[in-house]
This record gives sequence, C-alpha cells and structure tokens, in this order.
Amino acid sequence: MSVTNLPGGSTSASTGVPPTKVTMPALAEMKRQGKTIAALTAYDYPTSRLADEAGIDLILVGDSLAMVVLGQENTLAITVDEMLHHTRAVRRAVRRAMVVADMPFGSYHGTISEGVANAIRFVKEAGAEAVKIEGPRIELVRALSEAEIPVVGHLGLTPQSLHRMGGYRVQARSAEAALQLKADAHALALAGAGALVLEGVPREAAAAITADLPIPTIGIGAGPDCDGQILVFHDLVNLTFAPAAKFVRRYADAGALIRTAIEHYREDVERRAFPSDEESYHLPEAARQALEASLAVIENASALRKA
Ligand code: KIV
Repeated sequence: MSVTNLPGGSTSASTGVPPTKVTMPALAEMKRQGKTIAALTAYDYPTSRLADEAGIDLILVGDSLAMVVLGQENTLAITVDEMLHHTRAVRRAVRRAMVVADMPFGSYHGTISEGVANAIRFVKEAGAEAVKIEGPRIELVRALSEAEIPVVGHLGLTPQSLHRMGGYRVQARSAEAALQLKADAHALALAGAGALVLEGVPREAAAAITADLPIPTIGIGAGPDCDGQILVFHDLVNLTFAPAAKFVRRYADAGALIRTAIEHYREDVERRAFPSDEESYHLPEAARQALEASLAVIENASALRKA
C-alpha cells in the first residue's frame, strides 16, 4: 500500500484556486495569440499529475503506451479497453490540461458509426475531452464533430500505418507530398478537427502547413515552427531502453535515477540496513514488557521440559 493524496491535481500554489481548464477553444486562442502549446503523453496517475502541475497544456494518452509501458513491438495490438483503463487514470490526476485519448488501431477503421461509438466510450467511460485519430479520415472527423466529440487529427508519420509505410519513416519528403499533406490538414480542419498533430515531417512542410491552417499544429519530429510541441514522456526522461530518435531531447535520466535507487535498496536489504529501528512500528511500553515476560515464561517452561 502507498498512501497518496488522492483528490489532487494542480491548484495555484498562491491562491489554492483550481486553474482554468484548457479546452479546444483555449488551444485555438493560444494559436491566435501566438502562445506555444506544450503537450506531453502520459499514461498513469502520478505522471499525469506531475505533467499537469508542471503546466503542460495538453496531455495525450497516446497509443505509444503499447510500446513504452506495455513493452509491445508496435502500437497495433493495444485495445480500446486497455486505452480506456489508462485514460481513466490520467483523467483522475488532471485538473488543468486538456486530456486527449488516442483511438487505437482498429477502433475507427471500420464503419463511421463504429468509430463514433468507440469515441463516445472514451468520453463517457474515461472522461476524455477529445480523441485523436490518425490519417485524413475526413468523413469520420465530420461525424465525430457532429456527435460533439472534439477531435485532434494526426498526419505525417502515423505509426498505425506502420505496415503501409514500410517502417517508421519521415513523410512528405517531396514538394508534391508536402502539398498533399497541406491539403489533408485543411480538409481535417474544415471537417471540424480542433488541432492537428504533425509527426515525422520536414520542418519546411510543417511550417507551410502551420502558417495558414486555422487550427493549431502540434509537432513531434516536425521542427520548431508548429504552434505546439509534443513528446512521449518516456523519451523525455530516458525510460525507453533504446537510442533516442533525432527529434527527442532528453531532459532527465530517470532510467539511471531509478536503477540506482533500486540497487541501493537491494544492497540495504541484503546487508540488513533496511528497515531501521526508526522505520519500524513498536509496541507500547506496557505491552512490550508483557510480551517479554510471557516469552520468558514460555522459554523457562520449554527449558524445564528439556531438562
Ligand atoms: O501515441 C503517441 O504517443 C502519439 C504521439 C507521438 C503524438 O501519437
């Protein structure tokens, strides 16, 4: 058991007043005002709470969860129920940031009504404030918007298209492909998407899209000209056990920190340095004396029996 201050989430340190919630219209306003959107993935209560308290605007419960938390080879096998489970944990932790749930592979690739029904589950059962879908699925985005579900689009390197792309490759590497990406981005915005993740595309393509798109772009491996940036939490703190991609900046080495802490714990246990007397519970003095007296009686009786 670990005692956690459960009803948490961030409040203003000075006033104790809950901060203003980040919503899709608030992200649009940030773009209008030229304020950069800071986004991050998270998949559990403590990480989400820390991200929220650190002022992250948008927390994505990404299907990258399959790889960085569940150790799977790619994102394709994760299910709606698994994503719901983690989205609930994130939602419990977050007060200010907008919580976006990634729709997993297969949950929106059939009929439009199946896609809408699955998206409704994320809002209704897990408290998601928007869903993210990969690819230029214009009809689905329109249907989700009509169903009052805010949508974040995702274009460029879309990991759920791994097999079609033939690997995780930078996309839109020609002028023609960049123009197609721009057209797709505008079609998504017109269909009702409220924001757009651009992943693994050349800086120039992302800049050209961002310049006249009416909704904010949030880049990952798309250069510095997007309206916001997102990273996978485990990349940011070096918990991935793999070399970092070119676009990743490691802000901490949590892998080394945690490994060292666990090694110290193991060593202390092995040499009986943990727990100490101060880390132990004690009987009240009277009970301790009574226990000692009883043990002495038992020991004497046992000695007499042996004699
Ligand atoms: O699943 C994920 O983490 C994502 C981000 C890379 C945008 O889709």
